[in-house]
Amino acid sequence: MDFIEIVGNGPLHGEISISGAKNAALPILAATILAKGNVCVKNLPDVKDIKTFLKLLDLLGSTHEEVGDCFVINTTNLNSTTATYDIVKTMRASILVLGPLLARFGECRVSLPGGCAIGQRPVGLHLKALEQMGAVITIENGYIHATAPKGLHGKVIVFDKITVTGSENVIMAAALAKGTSKIVNVAKEPEVVQLCQMLQSAGVVIRGLGSDEIEIEGTDGRLLEIPDITVIPDRIEAGTYLCAAAISKSTLTLKKVQPLHLEAVIQKLEEMGLSFDIGSDTMTIYPVEKLKPVDIVTTEYPGFPTDMQAQFMALATQAEGVSVIEERLFENRLMHVSELQRLGAKIKLKGHTATVTGPCELQGSDVMATDLRASSALVLAGLIAKGITRVHRIYHLDRGYERLEEKLSNIGANITRGKE
Ligand code: EPZ
Repeated sequence: MDFIEIVGNGPLHGEISISGAKNAALPILAATILAKGNVCVKNLPDVKDIKTFLKLLDLLGSTHEEVGDCFVINTTNLNSTTATYDIVKTMRASILVLGPLLARFGECRVSLPGGCAIGQRPVGLHLKALEQMGAVITIENGYIHATAPKGLHGKVIVFDKITVTGSENVIMAAALAKGTSKIVNVAKEPEVVQLCQMLQSAGVVIRGLGSDEIEIEGTDGRLLEIPDITVIPDRIEAGTYLCAAAISKSTLTLKKVQPLHLEAVIQKLEEMGLSFDIGSDTMTIYPVEKLKPVDIVTTEYPGFPTDMQAQFMALATQAEGVSVIEERLFENRLMHVSELQRLGAKIKLKGHTATVTGPCELQGSDVMATDLRASSALVLAGLIAKGITRVHRIYHLDRGYERLEEKLSNIGANITRGKE
């Protein structure tokens, strides 16, 4: 397994180009199952989760090739409707083929995605919504077996909890269903909005985009001709690099970024004393000598994103005072606390709330990544720790960050990848 070695060596400087959003690209790839003919996807990030999803689509019988800056996917000849355990166990987001496969073929088998480090991560809300639309779902030998004997029908679906991939599965199913669906308490993340825009561009009528409830007029099984689509910038990658600049007291410019998707993150960084120049697709962050502490509660978009919680915890170790960070979405997304403590961070954990006291000089050490965003938080800490920090099990990092060590070393970080 690989590890990343960082030697804290002072402020960074320069600019970083933000890649396409993994969590937008995944539902976009899933939605190609609803398409007739080729779909050209641009700005796909070169990360492990995308490679895994393309492998899943290929196993179902799709083809894909790179043509210039287009990733051309064709699902005309899909010949399987089973997403097997060996793929799903490596990436839970494989669940995103459930809605489109069921909508197109009327039957599919998808391995139950197990839990993961950050939580049990059930999918009951996905299944309940699809059953309301006419699906018959049984769980057999660890597989979700879904059929739609009378097809899927538009319904009013009220989600008990906001679920990103649950919303995406139901949106894709509703796009091909018979009749109109209304989804209440739908996720509003930019990645969900882009999926809806992709379907709208193919002629699916969707009303209420970006609000708590949307209406979708299904095509009654007619496959979609989907125009070229460019994946939106990754707001979490961008937020991670903003934290890298803040923690290392650097001036940093991000390019190909969408500042509008980062409002909650920008506000928290401003509360800590940082300032910005913001353009339409660029932003520059300016350092501050003394970081102010900050209080954070993670919540659904447009609130503060859970995917930025670990990175802000690393940053809070350098703030002058006490920061309180509460994780509200996942039951076990605080495993980076013990790793940050190994670096010397002063953090007290009570339930789902961490109290971080700073500023605290961190000492380089060997630490272990436990999930995708925790691993980036440990890299941020390594940027300013005294001495050498080695982050092990960085396969977590490779799932969602494109060329992280290259992007950071290009702005002056002393960061290299090694083999155990
Ligand atoms: C998506 O996961 C993201 N993944 C996650 O990003 C992100 O952390 C999460 O949304 C929250 O923003 C992708 O988009 C591929 P949820 P998802 O369903 O859809 C509970 C990363 O770092 N829930 O919105 O799986 C669930 O347990 C990843 O890129 C149910 O109870 O998250 C959680 O507490 C990590 N029943 C809450 O809802 C269900 O049926 C939100 O989960 C579904 C969810």
